Amino acid sequence: MNIAIDGPAGAGKSTIAKLVADKKGFIYVDTGAMYRSIALYIIENNVDSDNDDAVKTACDNIDIKIKYVDKVQHIYLNDEDVSTAIRREEVGNMASKVATKKVVRDKLLNLQRELAASNDVIMDGRDIGTFVLPNAELKIYLTASVYTRAKRRYDQLIEKGEEPNLEKIEEDIEKRDYQDMHRDIAPLKQADDAVLLDSSDMSIEEVVDKIISLI
Ligand code: DC
Repeated sequence: MNIAIDGPAGAGKSTIAKLVADKKGFIYVDTGAMYRSIALYIIENNVDSDNDDAVKTACDNIDIKIKYVDKVQHIYLNDEDVSTAIRREEVGNMASKVATKKVVRDKLLNLQRELAASNDVIMDGRDIGTFVLPNAELKIYLTASVYTRAKRRYDQLIEKGEEPNLEKIEEDIEKRDYQDMHRDIAPLKQADDAVLLDSSDMSIEEVVDKIISLI
């Protein structure tokens, strides 16, 4: 069985997908991590992300592998486990930027489809229900207001001992939404047959229970 969860940055997709995967014995596939790994390579190697030829050469030099350790996804960029390094804000913003490029999207598509073909997966991203897995048995479009998403992120950073700026987080989220929704290839949008869930006023448990009941 394949379940697709799409939605904007910070809607809670990964938290919820992980919990549902645990309860149902599915594998959770985080496709954002794949885009983030390419972004990390681009940042670390000072690749000019505005130069299509440079991004193509970078893609040719990148090997991405996914492994599951105790059902938790680990992602390897040229054999290095980058699962933690890719979580930085800067990497997410670069991922959104390079995800507009065809060469980057093409590189990841097969890996995503292969994982779904050989496992029961719950896969999250931006274009899973609309493009990667158009025949997924269940599609969810998970969203929440910009303020709710920014506040959740803000609270996470405070918990980590950082000193975030809520307005700046809101601006970054709006920019990322715009970029992800307005690109030419596979933009973020709700699939016609997706169930819309707005988590602004729902707890994590409520969203998880709703998805389990839909399954
Ligand atoms: O879900 P995330 O924040 O880790 O994703 C980072 C960026 O990667 C996101 O802003 C856009 C891109 N992305 C994408 O274009 N398609 C996907 N299926 C997943 C992520």
